[in-house]
Amino acid sequence: MARLTVGVLISGRGSNLKALIEACAAPDYPAEIALVISNKPDAAGLDYARAAGIPVAIIEHRAFPDRASFDAALDARLRAEGVGLVCLAGFMRLLTEGFVVGWHDRLINIHPSLLPAFPGVDVQQRAIDAGVRFSGCTVHFVRTATDDGPIIIQAAVPVLPEDDAERLAARILEAEHVCYPLAVRWFAEGRLAVDGNRVRLRGAVAPPETAFSPAAS
Ligand code: GRF
Repeated sequence: MARLTVGVLISGRGSNLKALIEACAAPDYPAEIALVISNKPDAAGLDYARAAGIPVAIIEHRAFPDRASFDAALDARLRAEGVGLVCLAGFMRLLTEGFVVGWHDRLINIHPSLLPAFPGVDVQQRAIDAGVRFSGCTVHFVRTATDDGPIIIQAAVPVLPEDDAERLAARILEAEHVCYPLAVRWFAEGRLAVDGNRVRLRGAVAPPETAFSPAAS
C-alpha cells in the first residue's frame, strides 16, 4: 500500500501532532508523516516527532523579511519531501494567499470550535461567554480567509455550567485527537470530494452520535 506523505506544521504543544503520529503507527493507516515543521525552535511538539524518528525542520518566521518569503521557504521544504497533504496543527502563523492557493485542497487545519462559529483566537472563552450549549472542533480545508473552508469533520462537545476556558479546551482537545486522524485517513483513502463549500464523504461514515446539552436529568 502506498501511503500518503504528510507534512505537519506546528508552533507549540503538538498534541494533535502526537495523535497523528500515533495513528500513523498502525500498519493499516494509509498515511505517514514525512516532515514536521515548526516556526518556533522551542515548540514542545518537536519532541514527539524526534521520539518517533520523524525529520523535523525549524523555519523561523523571524528570519525572513516578509510573510511571502517565509511561506516560500515552507513550500519549498514541503515539496522537497514530496508531501501530498499539509496538516496545520496549532500553527500560529497566517499563511499567504500564494501558499494557500498553491496547496489548494491539500491543506487542512483543525480548529477548536464548531466553525463558522468562533473563528480566530480565545475561542473557548468566547463560547462560554456566548452561552452556547455545545462547542467542539472542526477539521477543514484551508481557504484564504482565516478559519474558513470546506468542512471535513466536526465533533460537538457540551459546554458544562462549571466550565472555564481551560476545562472546555481540554474536553474539546480529546475530540480533536479523534477527528484529525480520521480526517487524514479519509483524505488518504480518496474519500473526500470538495463540492463548492461542501465536502462529500464517500464510503465511510463518522461514528453516529446524538448529543443533548444540557442532558436530561
Ligand atoms: C488546538 O486546539 C487546535 O485546534 C488549534 O490549536 C491547538 C493546538 O494544540 N488550532 P496542539 O499544539 O495540537 O496541542
